[in-house]
Amino acid sequence: MGPNPLWQAEALIESMPLQPGSRILDLGCGTALSSIFLAKEYGVEVWATDLWIQPDENLRRITEAQLVGQVHPIHAEAHALPYAENFFDAVVSIGAYHYFGTDDLYLGYLTRFLKPGGRLGISLPGSASEPETLPPTHLAPYWKWDFCAWHSPGWWRHHWEKTGLVAVDVADQLPHGWHDWLQWNEACDLDGGQPGREEARMLHADGGRTLGLTRAVAHLR
Ligand SMILES: C[S@@+](CC[C@H](N)C(=O)[O-])C[C@H]1O[C@@H](n2cnc3c(N)ncnc32)[C@H](O)[C@@H]1O
Repeated sequence: MGPNPLWQAEALIESMPLQPGSRILDLGCGTALSSIFLAKEYGVEVWATDLWIQPDENLRRITEAQLVGQVHPIHAEAHALPYAENFFDAVVSIGAYHYFGTDDLYLGYLTRFLKPGGRLGISLPGSASEPETLPPTHLAPYWKWDFCAWHSPGWWRHHWEKTGLVAVDVADQLPHGWHDWLQWNEACDLDGGQPGREEARMLHADGGRTLGLTRAVAHLR
């Protein structure tokens, strides 16, 4: 659904290695491709949690991947998670956290589901730094109002650290992230996807100046 979730998952896990058998919440997993990837590649157990995609649709993919019992499809809204406190070793969220996580108080809600020392890692669209004006002038023709939730690595670091709940281990832009994102949109365009074409124009206009994929990883204090 977003810029290739498997490329993003792989880049995220480089910064937060996962132990086989760990319990992972994949929050905003969409079509659960990242959940399947994490289970297959790292031997973890994943709760594939999403709002817009129905769990029976994800179960079909999980069944095809022969991961029933290791990847659990769950329909839930990010503010009403049906999990026990201190349950997860890590939360990962790919291309989704900006839909709910920019609220100052959200981190305090989410981290209650992590074990002590548990980790949170996100990868999502963002800018290299916070623009002085929105939209940035060169991106004005392509801008949609909800891009205001695309933030810089520094913004996420401050957003999380100011709670005192977590220590931030990594906050950066994925190397070549903007180019991966562009390649993805061009592939979607070839496949007939209009959003792919519009975003590709914007990414070309930006040329890696500011847009990219922000990665942030933190652990519970
Ligand atoms: C752009 S899609 C990314 C999906 C997938 N992670 C990927 O990279 O392909 C954003 C996802 O965030 C999920 N999402 C948005 N708001 C949410 C919320 N409030 N609670 C749970 N999931 C939410 C949507 O259901 C959607 O699947």
